[in-house]
Amino acid sequence: MRPRQEPGRPHRCVMTRLLLLLALALSCRCCPDNCLCSLETVKCQNLDLNAIPHSLPANIKSLFITGNSISQINQTSFPTRLENLTDLYLSDNEMELVEAGAFQNLPNLERLDLSNNRILTFDEHALPDDNKLKLLNLSRSFHNGSLLDFFPRANLLQLATLDLSNNNLEHHRLDGTFTAMSSLVTLSLRNTLLYTIENWSLPALRDLDLRDNNLKFLPSATLAEFSINRSLRIQLLGNPWRCNCIIDDLVAWLKNSTQVVDSDNLTCFDPEAMRHTPLLQVQQSQLECSNRDGVLETSYVFLGLVLALIGVIFLLVLYLNRKGIKRWIYNIRDACRDHMEGYHYRYEINSDPRLANLSINSDV
Ligand SMILES: *[C@@H]1O[C@H](CO)[C@@H](O)[C@H](O)[C@H]1NC(C)=O
Ligand SMILES: *[C@@H]1O[C@H](CO)[C@@H](O)[C@H](O)[C@H]1NC(C)=O
Ligand SMILES: *[C@@H]1O[C@H](CO)[C@@H](O)[C@H](O)[C@H]1NC(C)=O
Ligand SMILES: *[C@@H]1O[C@H](CO)[C@@H](O)[C@H](O)[C@H]1NC(C)=O
Ligand SMILES: *[C@@H]1O[C@H](CO)[C@@H](O)[C@H](O)[C@H]1NC(C)=O
Ligand SMILES: *[C@@H]1O[C@H](CO)[C@@H](O)[C@H](O)[C@H]1NC(C)=O
Ligand SMILES: *[C@@H]1O[C@H](CO)[C@@H](O)[C@H](O)[C@H]1NC(C)=O
Ligand SMILES: *[C@@H]1O[C@H](CO)[C@@H](O)[C@H](O)[C@H]1NC(C)=O
Repeated sequence: MRPRQEPGRPHRCVMTRLLLLLALALSCRCCPDNCLCSLETVKCQNLDLNAIPHSLPANIKSLFITGNSISQINQTSFPTRLENLTDLYLSDNEMELVEAGAFQNLPNLERLDLSNNRILTFDEHALPDDNKLKLLNLSRSFHNGSLLDFFPRANLLQLATLDLSNNNLEHHRLDGTFTAMSSLVTLSLRNTLLYTIENWSLPALRDLDLRDNNLKFLPSATLAEFSINRSLRIQLLGNPWRCNCIIDDLVAWLKNSTQVVDSDNLTCFDPEAMRHTPLLQVQQSQLECSNRDGVLETSYVFLGLVLALIGVIFLLVLYLNRKGIKRWIYNIRDACRDHMEGYHYRYEINSDPRLANLSINSDV
């Protein structure tokens, strides 16, 4: 055993030195080519990079790699641990893939800006399980709504601000999407083509931006959820409010609530006659469902059902009386035949050529 260890010692020494050198090289204070470095901030903007530069200073706090063409980030993107990196800006990169382990070496990341990309998949293990992320900016960054699947599964327990504005969420239900984010304080869903807001509970939420969507009304269950915590502030401007009976609850709630910061500026879009009328000035008596609206549609459905029922009963009666009807039809047919036969007989007598000859002969 002993003689074996003796020659190993100098070898191990070289190894340690090499590792030390490597560590020094990796923790360099150098600045990547063409980037701007100042104190603990590095900016590599509009450089047409297609990967994150590797020679980043070890003490870096903020990193801006915007306006490049980094189509994916994965676990090779940050090969060394950057303990102090808290702010990472990756907007405008045409990014499509955020893969597992991408941010594994950034244990203290607090603000992540991925806006203005076209992300197709965001792996739920991209961030470390015990991440400290507080702000996530995904404004105008969805390729399509499939990115929403990421949220319920990702560990975003400390996330306070989420910006999802300017994405197309039209065909996606949001219930359950945010339930795991118990610390969420600010949520922007501005300009996301939403036409309904239902069934979510975000106990800590204080600021909800729903401007510029397709909301026509808000169901009373949603209003009740909004009212649970009166420190919640909501923005609703720029939605096509439909001022008929369906908006009843919303108007009553708006008049009694201080939670909607832009309530003074909300106006009706539908019906034509009420366009631009402020919601707060609408009277309950004006909120009737006119002939073109829902109530009539339901009455049409009802009418259709009644007619169908009558039709079915009629057919049933016919079926049950089929023997009587058959008899009746036979009777009619027989009557007709009798009548026709009588007629036929008379006609035949008149048109019999022999009789005609007879009469001629008798004339002769
Ligand atoms: C990881 O991403 C870089 C670009 O950021 C890319 O060049 C590399 O091929 C990717 N690696 C894998 C295994 O996908
Ligand atoms: C991170 O920041 C702390 C405090 O500012 C500092 O003591 C430490 O050396 C920094 N870490 C690195 C790797 O530079
Ligand atoms: C997200 O990024 C967009 C532009 O990329 C910016 O306008 C917006 O203010 C950012 N949101 C937050 C919450 O920082
Ligand atoms: C999103 O786009 C991808 C690729 O185009 C497609 O496979 C996926 O089904 C789409 N998802 C949704 C929810 O539309
Ligand atoms: C709301 O969501 C919860 C769970 O996400 C579900 O159990 C419940 O049925 C939903 N309620 C409505 C009215 O959609
Ligand atoms: C309402 O929200 C505020 C701020 O998020 C929070 O401090 C407070 O505990 C909440 N109150 C209730 C009753 O949930
Ligand atoms: C109006 O709001 C108060 C609390 O601000 C509430 O107690 C009351 O029930 C509300 N009235 C109506 C008619 O909703
Ligand atoms: C709301 O309307 C008031 C005047 O009624 C105007 O001064 C204000 O700028 C408007 N706010 C918005 C956000 O449009």
